[in-house]
Amino acid sequence: MSSGRVPGHGLERGRRVEVLIDGRPAEAYEGESVAAAVMADRGLGLRVTDRGDRRGFYCGMGVCFDCVMVIDGVPQTRTCVTWVREGMTIEHQEGAGPRDAGGR
Ligand code: FES
Repeated sequence: MSSGRVPGHGLERGRRVEVLIDGRPAEAYEGESVAAAVMADRGLGLRVTDRGDRRGFYCGMGVCFDCVMVIDGVPQTRTCVTWVREGMTIEHQEGAGPRDAGGR
């Protein structure tokens, strides 16, 4: 897991929590967005469109929907305006999410 984020710049980081990103445990901090946690853990690239294009973080304020992922089983969740919680499950989304596969 990464270390050295926010090294001594006077910022208070929230409590460390553990989330699951695509089934793998990852660290995150209360008060940060899911998008920030995923990018800190995995780098850019939050989802893949139904055309196969990789998309990521763009507006950062809930308008463009480029950052959507499946959060706790809910597809199309905007990760830039969703805050991490202990035990949250975060999955990369392909196309419109699980409904594409005839799921939920
Ligand atoms: S980055 Fe635009 S809605 Fe999240």
